[in-house]
Formats: sequence, structure tokens, C-alpha cells
Amino acid sequence: MDKSEPHTPILVFDSGVGGLTVLAQLRRLLPQAPVIYAADMAGLPYGAKSEAEVAARVAGLLGRMAERYQPRLICLACNTASTIALGMVREVLETPIVGTVPAIKPAAALTRSGTFGLLGTEATMRQAYVDELEHDFAKGKVLLRHGANGLVALAEAKLRGESVSVDAVAREAKGLVLQQGGEAIDTVVLACTHFPLLEEELRAAFGEDVTLLDGSEGIARRIVALTQGQSFERSRSDFAVTTGELEDFRRLAPAFAAQKITRLERF
Ligand code: DGL
Repeated sequence: MDKSEPHTPILVFDSGVGGLTVLAQLRRLLPQAPVIYAADMAGLPYGAKSEAEVAARVAGLLGRMAERYQPRLICLACNTASTIALGMVREVLETPIVGTVPAIKPAAALTRSGTFGLLGTEATMRQAYVDELEHDFAKGKVLLRHGANGLVALAEAKLRGESVSVDAVAREAKGLVLQQGGEAIDTVVLACTHFPLLEEELRAAFGEDVTLLDGSEGIARRIVALTQGQSFERSRSDFAVTTGELEDFRRLAPAFAAQKITRLERF
């Protein structure tokens, strides 16, 4: 496939449906961009895996997908994968890659109390990449972290149409504000692409006084900047692929249809 053709796709990759929060923003800014959505459902959840496991899966799968689909750009729409493996995959792939970085910089500028929170997977919380962002952009502020792997399964369940209670979400998320000094948190960074899918429940859990912030719009804007001057045409139907069972994937069909993807396939 010629990468300069208008129908050349953007590949959006996540371990599950979290990348749909990025895709929603991309649809708003680049409605004509052809998209292939790839979910590593066989590897979900990344947040409970070791760095080596995540890096091996992401590098191996993106390499095969780049070869098969020849995308013009890859969006690594997963904080866990990006904070662990972004540098590594950028080194081995020729395709431009936009990663997903926790929105620490804008949150540090926004907090009025000077204490803000970072909610992501356990794997993301321990990455040096996050330490560096904190060091560079949160000087003089207090950043409290909380790994909430359980929210990933709740977000996936919600998008499969299952009912997810505020209590269940609060049980996973409230550790952030219940730790020492946590009562001063006025801004929470949602540093996992799955978490904005639970925005309503998280708002109820943290209360109206806490501002929730995620990076999806910034990521979409970065894609727009990197594809400036390129033409787009969605003349072929967009599709989504899974590394897991197709039958399970099909239960997510309404969530994909909401982002104009109706073809679901196995990778
Ligand atoms: N969506 C991924 C993220 O942004 C994590 C989900 C998982 O644990 O696989 O971190």
C-alpha cells in the first residue's frame, strides 16, 4: 500500500477498548481518516504484566501489524505500553508512532491546592518515564499515585453492556485519595486510556470538586500535526482486529459501531 494514498489507514493499538477514547477524539478532529483498531485482547490486561512481557508483546505485534497493514502512522493508545515500550518500538519501526503520555504537565498547571493525583495501571505507576514527567513538570507540587488495575476490567465490562456500579469503581479508585495527604487532591490525571470510559462513575466516586484530566484530545491533536498536508478518504470500511477470541470481541460491537467501525476480525 502506498503510504501517501488517501485511504492509507492510521493504526490505533491498545490492549483492549481503552484506545476507543483516543479514537473518539481523532474522529472529531479527522473525521475522514481511515482507521484500523487493533486490540491485544489475548494480552489484556497489560497493567498486571512485567515490563519484559509488555515490551515483547507490543514490539512483536506492532511489527507484524505494520507489515500487514502498512499504516501511515501508529497510535500506541495505551499508557502502559507507551511508558514501557515507546522508545523501543520507535527504534525498530519506520512508521511514525504517537504514544500516550500521562497528562502530568497540564494537571500540574491546573491544580490549585498543589496536590494532584495520578490514576493508572500498576505497571504505569512504577515507570521511570512517569518519574521523569513528575521531575520535569511537577516541581513544587505533590503528585500522589495509585495503581488501579481493577478499573480496566470494569471499563471493558461497561462497554460489553454489563452494568458497572459507582461502588465498584469507587472501591478501585478511592485508594488515591485515601492515602496520606490525598484529601488535598483537586485534580486527577486519568493515565490509562480505559479510564475515561468510566468518567461518570469516577466523577461520582471522587466528587464534583475534583477535576478529571486525560490525554486523549492532546494525542489526537498530535496525530493531526504529524499528518498535516496529507489527504484522507474513508472509501473502504474501517475495521477492528483482536488477538483474542472473535466471539468475545463481538460483544463489544456496539462500542465499536459508536466509532463507525462495524467490521470485527481476528488478527
Ligand atoms: N489501556 C491501557 C493503558 O492505557 C491499560 C489496560 C491494561 O491494563 O491492559 O494503560
